[in-house]
Amino acid sequence: MGDEDNSGIDPDENIKVTLIGCTGVGKTCIIKRYHLNEYIENPPPTCGGSYSIKQITINNKIIQIDLWDTAGQERFRSLGKHFYKDAYIVIFVYDITNKESFEEIKTVWYPNVKEFGEKYSVLAVVGNKWDLYWKEEVKEDEARAYAQEIGAAFMLVSAKDGDNVDILFDTLVKKYLGSPFKEQLNEMKKAKGKTGKLTTRKTRKKKKKSGFC
Ligand code: GTP
Repeated sequence: MGDEDNSGIDPDENIKVTLIGCTGVGKTCIIKRYHLNEYIENPPPTCGGSYSIKQITINNKIIQIDLWDTAGQERFRSLGKHFYKDAYIVIFVYDITNKESFEEIKTVWYPNVKEFGEKYSVLAVVGNKWDLYWKEEVKEDEARAYAQEIGAAFMLVSAKDGDNVDILFDTLVKKYLGSPFKEQLNEMKKAKGKTGKLTTRKTRKKKKKSGFC
């Protein structure tokens, strides 16, 4: 599941997924990898936000995923809250080679989502650029513990190599579809009138395990 694109067909379910985090952590590249299985070296910085659509099939249901890419640059931060609305999956991205990008999840991005986001959402903390594991500045254990603290899933990915990118989205979508708050959300929406394989550290030289907690 997760790799079939039925774009153009009316979906049974629509899910908005928003990626947030500092500039340069690789949000655009993660989305491009998932959406088109492509990697672009040095895409231009995102201005404001943009979105792509991917349709997948789960249990014979067509799920449309609206992938929202947000700008990490400071000058766009005030716009961020607009992208949190109706985002029932929020992915906090940091760059494993940049400690500050992880710290800013704690000081900027998570507090923002708490303040302006939906009351219930599936959250994930994701360390990108895993291909640069030897330059790691953020310890996996520390990031995993923080994810656990805020009730988020955790994963290390590489948009460049594609490691864990599909499984990240597949797992979060399944988590959302099976979440106890989903029925509640559907009721709320009605009321508003709205209609791979996991790569582990074992496959890397460090031979440590990784994955969702
Ligand atoms: P803003 O749009 O400014 O918020 O940045 P962003 O978070 O969308 O980052 P973007 O996807 O533009 O990537 C920033 C830089 O990191 C680019 O030079 C990418 O080529 C590089 N990059 C992204 N993902 C990876 C990765 O998995 N590995 C490596 N080595 N580089 C990556």
